[in-house]
Amino acid sequence: MKKVVIITGASRGFGELIAKKFQKENFQVIATMRNIDSSPSLKKLENLDIKKLDVTVKSDIKNVVDYTVEKYGRIDILINNAGYGAFGFLEEASDEEIRNQFNVNYFGLIDCIKGVLPQMRKQKDGVIVNISSIAGRFGLPFTSLYNSSKFAVEGLTECLHYELSLFGIDIKTVAPGSFRTGFHDSINFTEDEKKEDLDVVRENLKKALEDGIKNQPPFPFGFGNNDDVANFVFKKSITKSKVSNFIGRDTKIINFFIKIFGRELLFKIIKKLWFSRILPKKEL
Ligand SMILES: NC(=O)c1ccc[n+]([C@@H]2O[C@H](COP(=O)([O-])OP(=O)(O)OC[C@H]3O[C@@H](n4cnc5c(N)ncnc54)[C@H](OP(=O)(O)O)[C@@H]3O)[C@@H](O)[C@H]2O)c1
Repeated sequence: MKKVVIITGASRGFGELIAKKFQKENFQVIATMRNIDSSPSLKKLENLDIKKLDVTVKSDIKNVVDYTVEKYGRIDILINNAGYGAFGFLEEASDEEIRNQFNVNYFGLIDCIKGVLPQMRKQKDGVIVNISSIAGRFGLPFTSLYNSSKFAVEGLTECLHYELSLFGIDIKTVAPGSFRTGFHDSINFTEDEKKEDLDVVRENLKKALEDGIKNQPPFPFGFGNNDDVANFVFKKSITKSKVSNFIGRDTKIINFFIKIFGRELLFKIIKKLWFSRILPKKEL
């Protein structure tokens, strides 16, 4: 019998590649997405069902879990991949912008975990992989909402790994560095509550994001290869591994840097690098 995997946010980016990888490896794939017509290339594949799932809609989660259990009798793996980045000044973010970041990246992920747990507990078996980020391990400027949502995912996973081990369920994070997916084009710049005295620096920040982060990664180590993430997620899903797993050359370099020099020096370098792009010279 084929093993069954549910993947969130499979319309594009990592999620779509992860779905293709599992399908190639002979899994029964439930590729979920907000709009079921988003990925024509997944539609052609055998042993792959496309199902509607917005992670902020609880009834979508229930429908997908019920469908999977009814049709295939089990859920072996859940890949919590759906997510996006809210960037900007915290002060200018509206309640809606703040809550939406956490509704998708954190509460949606929690609801998907709660959705599959009864079946996984019944099986006394299951694997949950939460796609976190290197941004969930140290802070970056002007991304407080995105980073803190990923910090929360890391914290949640660390805690749950004790609890779920009681039931034979394995949970872990995969934290990628910088990869050129649709992520950069989907950044939500949070500015619903504009402050006049931030006009100059905000517009510089937006321009720096447009010119910079969309075309070059935040660290000068290049973008990684997206297929490496899909292969890595697959490998971590089918083998025993650490609770926290990093992928990307930049994550290796940064983690090594932190180990040798500590986080405070990294913060200083990041500040210098970012602020020189954004603040007017006299404010540096
Ligand atoms: N790319 C990177 O450098 C990077 C680095 C570290 C971590 N990550 C993480 O990797 C994950 C995948 O991102 P990606 O890089 O592949 O970006 P992407 O190409 O923008 O894909 C994001 C996916 O999430 C989906 N999504 C967004 N909101 C959703 C919701 N409410 N319900 C269900 N699906 C939703 C999108 O669906 P739609 O098509 O409907 O918008 C899309 O399928 C994210 O969690 C991201 O934070 C990315």
